[in-house]
Amino acid sequence: MLFPEFQTVELAPGALLLRGAAEACATDLLSQIEGVIMVSPLRTVVTPMGKSMSVEMTNCGDVGWVSDRTGYRYETIDPLTNLSWPAIPALFAQLANGVAAQAGFPEFHPDACLINRYAMGSKMGLHQDRDEQDFAQPIVSVSLGLPITFNFGGGTRTSPTTKTQLRHGDVVVFGGQSRLAFHGVGTLRRGQHSLTGPYRFNLTFRRAG
Ligand code: SIN
Ligand code: FE2
Repeated sequence: MLFPEFQTVELAPGALLLRGAAEACATDLLSQIEGVIMVSPLRTVVTPMGKSMSVEMTNCGDVGWVSDRTGYRYETIDPLTNLSWPAIPALFAQLANGVAAQAGFPEFHPDACLINRYAMGSKMGLHQDRDEQDFAQPIVSVSLGLPITFNFGGGTRTSPTTKTQLRHGDVVVFGGQSRLAFHGVGTLRRGQHSLTGPYRFNLTFRRAG
């Protein structure tokens, strides 16, 4: 499933970009995403400050990441459907485990997968992923569809950032010294991708509990 010879780029200590590592399974990932969305639809959420996020999101896994006026947290029940989130598809888990191991995290056991869909104009400001219990477990982030600029910083909001294009099939694994690094993406530009049309999807695998 993984290309053995994809290019790797070290973004920071503990943060690796595996170029095209998910490309071979992208079509299957996208059809599994469709299956998840049929059960737990994409939705727009507000931040605790009451601001609508520009990406649409949903989750699969034992828990899902949610945001509303009371804060950010993981929930076992999808607040939109009042049902459990769909399970993480076997292919997702295989990919996440495989790339985490290649990046030096052989014991990654994600229990949450956040699915973000970016449309033209969607963006994600600098933030830390820190709603999880165990920071020894890395974050695995998979990009599908249209490209976007990834900003990867350091331990503080004002740390210098490196800018990299994330393209279809790219995977970023960040853990260790970079586990709490600030990161975000620029604004999605108009485009058409043969598999995703005008959208970019991002899968973020995490061990929440
Ligand atoms: C995120 O960090 O929540 C998303 C990053 C991305 O879309 O690549
Ligand atoms: Fe993040």
